[in-house]
Parts: sequence; structure tokens; C-alpha cells
Amino acid sequence: MTAWKEIDQHVKVWMNYARKLILAQIKTDVQVSTKSGPNDLVTNVDKEIEEYYVKQIKLFFPNSLILGEEGHKDSGMLKHQGYFWVIDPIDGTMNFVKEQENFASMIAIYYNGKPLLGYIYDVMKDKLFWGGPACQAVYCNNEKLNSPANLSLKDGLFGASCPMVLRNYRGINEVISKSSGARIVGSAGIEFINVMSGKLCAYLSFLRPWDYLPGKILAETLGLIVKTIDGEPVNVLSSTDVLVATDNAQSEIFKIINNY
Ligand code: IPD
Ligand code: CA
Ligand code: CA
Repeated sequence: MTAWKEIDQHVKVWMNYARKLILAQIKTDVQVSTKSGPNDLVTNVDKEIEEYYVKQIKLFFPNSLILGEEGHKDSGMLKHQGYFWVIDPIDGTMNFVKEQENFASMIAIYYNGKPLLGYIYDVMKDKLFWGGPACQAVYCNNEKLNSPANLSLKDGLFGASCPMVLRNYRGINEVISKSSGARIVGSAGIEFINVMSGKLCAYLSFLRPWDYLPGKILAETLGLIVKTIDGEPVNVLSSTDVLVATDNAQSEIFKIINNY
């Protein structure tokens, strides 16, 4: 197994390159297409970054298996002994296209099925959140993060997902009414950052593995809770509703949802 510092050095070089690609193209050279529907976007930049990450991983860590949002899918991932990488080249593509901020590039790394390192890069703020069990800490750039305060729901903002609010999914409006208020950002990665930084007491959304695995690795390292809305562990390869929260907020949220 390669020392984690060596892996980390490579990943940071790749993510800096991805940031340069984004900054070079964001104003002038973004070609947008739709995937499953009009609100599910992909751009040439998403594809270019995923291809770049895959190429670098295969070059430096040839025995890796990789799952990427924009199409790269190796088989046999669950049984794999070795490195398993999950890539979301741009998380919050809608924000990338419409707002030109509030999006992130993300990578999660597992070794022999165990979490190793997670990376969420808020590209426009130039803030890279990274860390995990390999270094038993989480950093924002070079600054070590403290675990956030154990906020209760009434003392914290709740990070929501628009489709869940529109459907009042599992009584989410009741959760929001018992919080300090709701915020909807539109990038799972940025929402995870906001919970880890103590700006939110919780975030709930239906997510796919590449949306939540980098954040799960980081949030759990800081002692935050990451579970499904039924309080079950989040399976590494499933698409599911994911709640990330402080310990106090999660127990209040589960109580409200179970009584709904
Ligand atoms: C999306 C964002 C969004 C979440 C969606 C994701 P994408 O990721 O994280 O916040 O609500 O479910 O698909 O498609 O922009 O990488
Ligand atoms: Ca994406
Ligand atoms: Ca995503």
C-alpha cells in the first residue's frame, strides 16, 4: 500500500489542474447538454475533468477501480482488494452553469473496502476540504478543522434539497419549521462543507455515491452522523436519501420523521 501522503500529493496536483481547467473555461467555453431531464446537466468541462482524473489514477495507481459520475465504471468494485476511487468531477453542475459558483470537484478513496481519504474542492473560493481516516483529521487547505459544535435543530440552519421540500418528503417541512430555517444550495459537496463548518446543523438529500462519499468520509472523521433517513448505515454503492447532521440534530430529525 502506498503511503497516504504520496496519494494526497498526487490528488492535490490533479485537483489544482482541474481548478485551472474550470477557471479557463467557465466564462467562455462551456457546452451544456442534458442527461435524464432538463435539470440534469453535464458539460464538456465535467467530462474533461473526469477523463483527466481517470487517466492520472490509472497512470499512478494502475490496480485501482474507478466509479465516475460521467460514465467511468469498472466492474467488481465491491469485492475489490486495493484502491477504489469515486469521482464527481463537478458537483453542482447547474450552479456551475447558472451561478458560476457554489460547485465543487470531489474525490473519495477507499482501500480494501475501507475509507481512506476524501476531497471536496470549493473551486471558486479556492478552499480544499480534505482528510479522513488515513490522517485522522480534516483540513481546509492547511488549516485543521475542529469538530463542529453539537447544534440542536432549533439552534441550527437546515440544508434542504428542493425536490424533497416540494413533495414534503417524509414530513421534511416539519423538520424545517423546528429549525432556525432552511437553506438550499444545490451542491451536496458544498452542503457537506457547510455542516462540517458548523454553518448548518444538518443536510438531507437523495444522493448518488459520488455525491455523498467524499463528504461522508470527511464528516464521519469529524464525528458527524451520516445515515439514511431511516437511521440505517449508508451503503457505499447505493443511491439513497442521506442525512448528515450533528448528533443532537439527527436524533431530533429522526423523531420528527418517525412520527410523521
Ligand atoms: C447534484 C448536486 C445536487 C443534488 C443532486 C446531485 P451534480 O450533483 O449535488 O445538490 O441535489 O442530487 O445530483 O449532478 O451537479 O453533480
Ligand atoms: Ca457531477
Ligand atoms: Ca454530484
